[in-house]
Amino acid sequence: MGNGIAHVFAQFGFEVNLIDISQDSLDRGVATITKNLDRMVSKEKITAEDKEATLSRITTFTDLASGVKDRELVVEAATENVDLKLKIFGDLDQFAPADCILATNTSSISITKIGAATKRPDKVIGMHFMNPVPVMKLVEIIRGYATSEEVTKTIIEASKSLKRVPVEVNDYPGFVANKILMPMINEAIITLYEGVAGVEEIDTVMKLGMAHPMGPLQLADFIGLDVCLSILNVLHDGFGNPKYAPCPLLVNMVTAGKLGVKSGEGFYSWNHGTKDLIVADNFKK
Ligand SMILES: NC(=O)c1ccc[n+]([C@@H]2O[C@H](COP(=O)([O-])OP(=O)(O)OC[C@H]3O[C@@H](n4cnc5c(N)ncnc54)[C@H](O)[C@@H]3O)[C@@H](O)[C@H]2O)c1
Repeated sequence: MGNGIAHVFAQFGFEVNLIDISQDSLDRGVATITKNLDRMVSKEKITAEDKEATLSRITTFTDLASGVKDRELVVEAATENVDLKLKIFGDLDQFAPADCILATNTSSISITKIGAATKRPDKVIGMHFMNPVPVMKLVEIIRGYATSEEVTKTIIEASKSLKRVPVEVNDYPGFVANKILMPMINEAIITLYEGVAGVEEIDTVMKLGMAHPMGPLQLADFIGLDVCLSILNVLHDGFGNPKYAPCPLLVNMVTAGKLGVKSGEGFYSWNHGTKDLIVADNFKK
């Protein structure tokens, strides 16, 4: 997600400092940005000059303090782990200029909690981009309990300048996107678990019947089953409502290391790539 966010900011004229913990990760990030820009050039969405100009606006850093020292906005997109995010925001508060806005791309962690790890909770906000960032237009803008009106307005304007569509929501578990999406994915898994229908049948009903671009089980494999489980746990803990309880089949699959595309198998087998849909052996009839 971090490389996608850097890509769109740089494409629309912002000078970007891309920060990660290792040079290897940064090299992989820049390679992905280059590949995605090449695709845009070949589709004639941008020119070769636009591509070079975009890349020239991105500088890489492995040291957080140097990367943020002169910034007006930081968009954090590190691994989804609450302790890690709280540590990073403590550091950002220390190293970024006092008036710098600290945004996070978190999918599920409370913005209010992240803000409380800093001395500037009024300047902490959720800027939730969708995957793949260069393609998806939505940015869910999440206002924490203490986020100021001025900061919210600035981030809405910044999102518009990236030719995205910002939508402002309040800070409750799952925000809007995942509060609605994850129960749907969980219900699809429960439907499979209860034997109502198979993997292909469930996804086909939702694709052809509801005009979804991909079925919920395929989508879960793309998002990562571990990510789905962790967001459902956030909803379950945060609202204390049993309707968010993760399906035991999802829990079992994550425990078995079947995480979807990233592990090679979930509801489908992905060892051959992501083009063809082949139902995983466990779910073959
Ligand atoms: N993957 C998605 O579809 C998606 C969609 C929307 C939002 N998000 C959110 O975006 C964030 C990142 O998700 P992802 O899927 O790209 O995660 P990822 O685990 O694939 O990538 C995280 C990156 O953060 C780096 N990182 C870890 N610790 C760091 C630190 N201390 N300082 C700097 N960099 C560090 C890692 O090296 C890695 O390159 C998460 O908060 C996630 O919830 C993900």
